[in-house]
Amino acid sequence: MTSSEHELLRIALAGAGDIEEWRLGDAELAAAHGYPRRFDVPVLDDYGTVFVDVTVLADTGEVVCHEVNGPNGVGSDALTGDSELRADLEARQTIRQLRRLGLLHDDGTVRGRVSTVHAHQHWSAFRTGGEFFPRVDRYADRLGALLPGVSVRRRAAADPAGDEAIAVVMGDVPAVAARLDVHPTTGAPTTGELRDGDRPVVFVGNPNLLPELARTGKVRVGRGRFEGVDRRAFHGWRLVNVVHDKSRQQALLHGTGIRPLAHFSAWSRDEAVTATRDFLANGPCVLKPNAASGGVGVEVVVPGASDDEIARVVDSVIDRYVAKYGEGSEATVFPLRGFEFARSTGYPLDDGEHLWDLRIAVLFEPGVAHAFPVSMRLTPKPFDPVSFVHDRDQWVSNVSGRQVTLLKSGMDDAALTAVGLAPDRVDTLLDACVTWTINAWDASARGDEGLGAYEDDREALDPEFYPRERWA
Ligand SMILES: Nc1ncnc2c1ncn2[C@@H]1O[C@H](COP(=O)(O)OP(=O)(O)O)[C@@H](O)[C@H]1O
Ligand SMILES: [Mg+2]
Repeated sequence: MTSSEHELLRIALAGAGDIEEWRLGDAELAAAHGYPRRFDVPVLDDYGTVFVDVTVLADTGEVVCHEVNGPNGVGSDALTGDSELRADLEARQTIRQLRRLGLLHDDGTVRGRVSTVHAHQHWSAFRTGGEFFPRVDRYADRLGALLPGVSVRRRAAADPAGDEAIAVVMGDVPAVAARLDVHPTTGAPTTGELRDGDRPVVFVGNPNLLPELARTGKVRVGRGRFEGVDRRAFHGWRLVNVVHDKSRQQALLHGTGIRPLAHFSAWSRDEAVTATRDFLANGPCVLKPNAASGGVGVEVVVPGASDDEIARVVDSVIDRYVAKYGEGSEATVFPLRGFEFARSTGYPLDDGEHLWDLRIAVLFEPGVAHAFPVSMRLTPKPFDPVSFVHDRDQWVSNVSGRQVTLLKSGMDDAALTAVGLAPDRVDTLLDACVTWTINAWDASARGDEGLGAYEDDREALDPEFYPRERWA
């Protein structure tokens, strides 16, 4: 455990179910492991954060990846007990964006007034305030230090900005999104600049604001991609589409050494049922909604399920998604995606073998990536291949929205070795996760966000683009 200037806040939040991942932090152990590991990466030409969740398959010993999270993810404090590095990168990206927009004078003052926005998980599922609030606080301090003489003020999402040059606005996704608009709001073409009232938004910490802005009709979605919004202010801005597209994430694993999982995308309920039925020929299938986090709507179907049973699971994926994200979220729940079920090696506890995954953080700035293992998350209950389909606690290891959390440090060599990750393998994995980040950044920079042909996308957005009836 690391002492912290945010002790009081963390004590208060501990009583409200915080997972207290910061307790895993140990600066000396991190230094002994050489974490964070530094990589030279000329392709990465801006700032960002990704969290790659990996595991080792019980039957083949291969490493696979459940999901890559963007900076909506947490865990950056599990290394040393604080998120100082991440807050520093976020603050430096903000300065870069101010420069890019011509809002930073040579004397280091800011032209006009601007906002930065920092959104956390919906309150109903939020268990990581002990990381989030201290990080935003450090961010505001760091920004103040980089811009001496500029007034920086912290604001709750419900709290209007005053006369400060930089308002650092924080709150849950719906509350933060509620004060944002895309400008200009009428007429075309739009520059897509995000505004907080009349203030340009010069930093956005959480890509999950985009589905919320889409749900409330402020941002358009075309074929699963967010459109008409300038993404440059987002942390890891080139990756905002790929962090919501779990199929694309698998394709980008090619060549990293992490084996991509078999998967499909379905754009309607019927298509999802058919695709799931076909998929079951090869084993259990995990269904997931688009643009979600916190395990919401993630369900499993096993071979032998009837079409009615599959349809019920598909409906429940959609229902749970809409229940969490609210009216209008039907717009972002598709495509529904299916994945091969990844049964991990077991982590032995007194009651049996638990499934697990390991989160790896890649924090980057222009030219350099910093990677380290964050934590191992164990499922609350031991795995039983017969009954797991009816019991999420046997196979879903993520921490949001639940009571029990079993976490182990990503620097616990004995725990990692027990599940098949000896230290040299962890090293290889850090490398693989940085390679994934390069692949994703590079593909996005070339305009290849991987959702099919240009013509198909245009047609999905605009039925007139390629009028079928003309060829009938
Ligand atoms: N293909 C899979 N095989 C087995 N378990 C999975 C698979 N995908 C996800 N899970 C389990 O479900 C959890 C939630 O899925 P994930 O894709 O990470 O959703 P979220 O974005 O909501 O966190 C994961 O942490 C993992 O425990
Ligand atoms: Mg997850």
